[in-house]
Amino acid sequence: MNIVTGAFGYTGRYIAALLHERGAKVRTLTGRPNRPNAFGDGVEVAPFNFDDPEALARSIEGAKAVFNTYWIRFPRGELTFERATTNVKTLIDAARRTGVSRFIHISITNACAESPLPYFRGKGVVEQYLMNSGLSYAILRPAIIFGREDILLHNITWMLRRFPLFTIPGDGSYRVQPVFVGDLAKLAVDAANEQLDLSIDAVGPEIFTFNELVALLARTVASKAWFVHVSPSVELILARVFSRLTADVTLTRDEIRGLMGDLLVSKSAPTATTRLSEWLARNADVIGTRYRSELSLRA
Ligand SMILES: NC(=O)c1ccc[n+]([C@@H]2O[C@H](COP(=O)([O-])OP(=O)(O)OC[C@H]3O[C@@H](n4cnc5c(N)ncnc54)[C@H](OP(=O)(O)O)[C@@H]3O)[C@@H](O)[C@H]2O)c1
Repeated sequence: MNIVTGAFGYTGRYIAALLHERGAKVRTLTGRPNRPNAFGDGVEVAPFNFDDPEALARSIEGAKAVFNTYWIRFPRGELTFERATTNVKTLIDAARRTGVSRFIHISITNACAESPLPYFRGKGVVEQYLMNSGLSYAILRPAIIFGREDILLHNITWMLRRFPLFTIPGDGSYRVQPVFVGDLAKLAVDAANEQLDLSIDAVGPEIFTFNELVALLARTVASKAWFVHVSPSVELILARVFSRLTADVTLTRDEIRGLMGDLLVSKSAPTATTRLSEWLARNADVIGTRYRSELSLRA
């Protein structure tokens, strides 16, 4: 049995599908166990149970590997980054207590326990906790994950399709290194079969400045939008107005800081092969055709 957190979500869905394809049994832990199960009998379902460590331990008992995708994009209500960090630590503790053989953890490029950005700091704290847990582990650090179910690139493209102007915070020279969700899933599933502890960036072969990325997305959908460079604070105001209009959280202050801080790019060699530019050419008819609301997806 393999445990995948979030098999009805984005990355977890690809990991579960690949495990299933390779004949492995999968149980998912999820915050929304009553959602339709796209895998049918192929994937068992259990709730996260982060508040009940005994029940959580029972749900992963006997598992060979745990694949953890659980994290939050931004804090909301009681679910802060500190709480999310505690939740992942609870999962790691349960995995150690129940004798899980391998813990595969999806982190983020430039995760750092001393980061001023709570998302990156929490990821860094969790990485250290896992490394010191005594579990055999693999840590994979993607930057931006692209695929048909992604939110960020879809919503940028949705705006490019619809509006005559697109605002870019700062000079747009900061970089991003997208990785295809299928490549990330393969790296994760392959890493489960290795013995040695592993900690790698999961990044694709192309690096774009943000200006280049937006221009590529615009070309893909033949957008004629003008790009306007604005200060990060103006971008944040616009993002908040837009979030109001869409009843969503489109972009946060910390996401702008992470993007502009060059944190979504790796210092190491690429570990994945799918090129965003080629994938976009194949998916030009679907990318950005509708707005994807993070909050509606989680409702
Ligand atoms: N997407 C990216 O571009 C990107 C970039 C870098 C790193 N990452 C990392 O890659 C991993 C997978 O990302 P993803 O985009 O594929 O995630 P996802 O599928 O949207 O969510 C992964 C898991 O986290 C849970 N989750 C997410 N937001 C939550 C919230 N607000 N409240 C409660 N549970 C929540 C989901 O719960 P349910 O099971 O209930 O759906 C799911 O189990 C994450 O650890 C993320 O930090 C993602």
